[in-house]
Amino acid sequence: MKEKIFINGRGGCGKSTFISLIAKELSKNNKVLIIDMDEGNLGLNKMLNVDVADTSLMEYYGGRDKIMGEILKVGIKGMVLEKINLKDGAASDSIDILDNMKLSDLPSDYVTWNGNIGFIESGKINDPDEGCACPMGNLTRDFLNHIELQDNEVILVDTSAGIEHIGRGVIESADKLISIVDPSSDAILLANKIGSLSKEASKEYMVILNKIDENTKDLVLEQLDDDISVVGELEYNSHIAQSNLSQKEINLEEVEGEIKEICAKI
Ligand SMILES: Nc1ncnc2c1ncn2[C@@H]1O[C@H](COP(=O)(O)OP(=O)(O)OP(=O)(O)O)[C@@H](O)[C@H]1O
Ligand SMILES: [Mg+2]
Repeated sequence: MKEKIFINGRGGCGKSTFISLIAKELSKNNKVLIIDMDEGNLGLNKMLNVDVADTSLMEYYGGRDKIMGEILKVGIKGMVLEKINLKDGAASDSIDILDNMKLSDLPSDYVTWNGNIGFIESGKINDPDEGCACPMGNLTRDFLNHIELQDNEVILVDTSAGIEHIGRGVIESADKLISIVDPSSDAILLANKIGSLSKEASKEYMVILNKIDENTKDLVLEQLDDDISVVGELEYNSHIAQSNLSQKEINLEEVEGEIKEICAKI
C-alpha cells in the first residue's frame, strides 16, 4: 500500500477506534503513520500503545502565531494578485513552508514510533483561549502535501468530527476518505454530505458501519446515498468498550476477521 487516507465521521462514531484497528492490521506489512488532527482526542495514543512526542507538529514548526503569520502572508499576496488581475486558478490559498520529506526523515521531536506504527499530534490545546483550528489545519495540509510516501507506507489521518477538514482543503493530498457511520441519522446525513463533497473534490470515498446490528443495518443502508461504497462493518463489541474504559491498548484479535476484510477493500 502507498496511500494517505482520511478517516472522518460524527463525534463518537468510532474514528479513533478504527484508526487503531486498521493501523494494527496494516502495520503487519506496512509502515503506518497516524496523524491526530483532533485536539479533543485524548486517548488515541493509548489505544495504539504509543507515547506522545513532547512537541506537536505546530509547535515544532514555530507555533500558532508563526503559522498564522504565514497564512496572513498567503492571504495578502492573494489579494494583491487579484487586485492587479494576476491571480489565476492555480494560485493556492494554502501555506507552502515545508520541504519534501520521507517518513524515514521525520524528526523524533514530533513523531513517536512503536514498531511500524508512528504517531504525530498536529496541535495541542495549551490555553483556555487557544483560538481557531485554522493554523493547525493549514500546517497539516502543507505537511501532508510534502510527504513522499514509499511502497508499503500508509498515512491515516484522524480528523475531528464534522467537515471542517474538507472545507479548509486539508484533504488536498488525500488518496481516499473513509467515513465511520454509527446507527444515527446524524452520521448518515454527514456521510452523504461528505460523499458529495468527496465527489466534487475527485476523491475516492467509502464508508464503514460501526456499532451496527441486524435491526439497524438495513435502516442505515437504505438512507445512505446509492453511490456510496460500504466496505465493512463492526457490531457493538464489549471488549472494545471495556479496553477504552480501562484506557488499555485496543486488541485487534477480538475483531481481526472483520478488520482484515476491511483492509483488503481499502
Ligand atoms: N464497535 C464498537 N463496539 C463497542 N464500542 C465501540 C465500538 N466502536 C467504538 N466504540 C466506543 O465508542 C466510543 C467512541 O469511540 P471513538 O473514540 O473511537 O470515537 P471517535 O469518533 O474517535 O470520537 P471523537 O469524535 O470524540 O474523536 C469509545 O468509548 C469506543 O470504545
Ligand atoms: Mg477520536
